[in-house]
Amino acid sequence: MVNIIGAGLAGLSAAISLAKQGISCNLISNLPSERAQSVMAEGGINGAINTMGEDDDTEYHFEDTMKAGGDIANKTMVRGLVETAPDIIRYLQSIGVPFNLKNNEIQQRNFGGQKKKRTAYSKSSTGKVIMTALIDEARKYEVLGLIKRYSNHEFLRLRIENNVCRGVEVRNNYTGVCYYFEGRVILASGGLSGLFKGFTTGSTANTGFVTAKVFEQGVRLSNLEMIQYHPTTIKISDKACLVSEAARGEGGRLFIYKNNEKWYFMEEKYPELKNLMPRDVVSREMYFVSRDNDAQVYLDMTELSKEVWKDRLPDLREEIIHYLDKDPKTEPIPVAPGIHYFMGGIDVDRNHSTTVENLFAAGECCSAYHGANRLGGNSLLGAIYGGRCAAKTVARLEKEGKTDFGEIIKPQVIAADKENTKVWLESKEESFTIKVRDILFEAMGIVRNEQGLNKGLLQLEELTKEPLNKEEIAGINLARAIILSGLYRKESRGANYREDYPERDDAYRGMTRVVLKEDKIDIGIWRADEDTN
Ligand code: FUM
Repeated sequence: MVNIIGAGLAGLSAAISLAKQGISCNLISNLPSERAQSVMAEGGINGAINTMGEDDDTEYHFEDTMKAGGDIANKTMVRGLVETAPDIIRYLQSIGVPFNLKNNEIQQRNFGGQKKKRTAYSKSSTGKVIMTALIDEARKYEVLGLIKRYSNHEFLRLRIENNVCRGVEVRNNYTGVCYYFEGRVILASGGLSGLFKGFTTGSTANTGFVTAKVFEQGVRLSNLEMIQYHPTTIKISDKACLVSEAARGEGGRLFIYKNNEKWYFMEEKYPELKNLMPRDVVSREMYFVSRDNDAQVYLDMTELSKEVWKDRLPDLREEIIHYLDKDPKTEPIPVAPGIHYFMGGIDVDRNHSTTVENLFAAGECCSAYHGANRLGGNSLLGAIYGGRCAAKTVARLEKEGKTDFGEIIKPQVIAADKENTKVWLESKEESFTIKVRDILFEAMGIVRNEQGLNKGLLQLEELTKEPLNKEEIAGINLARAIILSGLYRKESRGANYREDYPERDDAYRGMTRVVLKEDKIDIGIWRADEDTN
């Protein structure tokens, strides 16, 4: 029996993959799949299917992914990702994902950091339609009893003995009853958006608690400083709302007013890829031009054709009108970078094994394919592929019978925790959440420096002087690890831009790795050329 924590794209992908091999799993999640962050993904999924007559090839996809990732992602893993991508897109089409088509061929659009049209899409609601198809696919196996869903069940902790994961404890959020699920565990719990409430395009239901807790339990994390800012977001109540990169992929242009004239700064500074430079570069340029000119950045989509608005971006237009009361077809809209994705997370090897035996991770919760900066369109891909890889490893182990867990199918009730149904940052003291967020956001901005990072650490230290519960301590430790990782990397690479170390330094060409040992965070760099795992 396998237990999957998280029912978004990576979790679903792992569950379907296991079920196809006849291996049963529990799909345990706080929210049902329909409400996972994956449904919010907009612009598309990458794969060199070469339907646009541009001689695209998986080799180019490999090069673009490695380059955008600052050359520190694991080459073997990236190769597997890009080489499987065309099959994944064809598979999705075969199960009914309504990609935009022309003459029956899947259409692909330009996306940031890629020299070819390589992003397959369904208007700008690609995540939603992929999730719908996969949820339906999973139902076939639910009926067969191979996938058993436990929605509204909150992760509490792993049970680890001698560095072997034995199972996972969870709580039914409706009844307060706690259960122990024995067996191997695949974590697919998403990113850390909940740590950045108000400043992120992601779902804040992804509180980061799973990552914080497993870190506390000794699981190694990596690349935590690599936090992606998406260049184009708009501020709405308590969120940064995504304006898909597809807007620029289809011809949208960034500008500021300078001396009363529109200055299309990206086009002037980066004549090759212009507005479609990788996200770290665009976000940084936006930060600098708006700071230096005291100016608002706008996204100009007024030159997009009627066909583009009708066939490719109708949903994006509706969303902007809804939230901003401005029609992007007729007027430029104000945009700003917002937190969008976490390249770092639970450290995994090429089999998606973590540093704890029988514990695996996939999707945004893990640090796998994206190095220092992710290409737009590679996240849906990484979630599906990563889920499959983790499932493949687990299936092999289950089939080899390398398990002493027995055949426990039903979870065991371990406690009724009706009093304590509140969980960590989501529902704890709001002031604590806000304090941690503000500290992290200030220290881990688009532009960082030693002084700011040290200040963040001191502020976290101050917080520990207040009475904290166990979950809050886990949260503080994760926040410390994030800031320490930014501090440790004394260079600028990808999303970690240090104004005090503005150049790349080969000594740091690798992943930062952190582990918590007796309340102390050990940190080091694992060089990219030690590509042995
Ligand atoms: O801009 C977007 O549509 C985002 C896509 C992604 O992060 O992959």
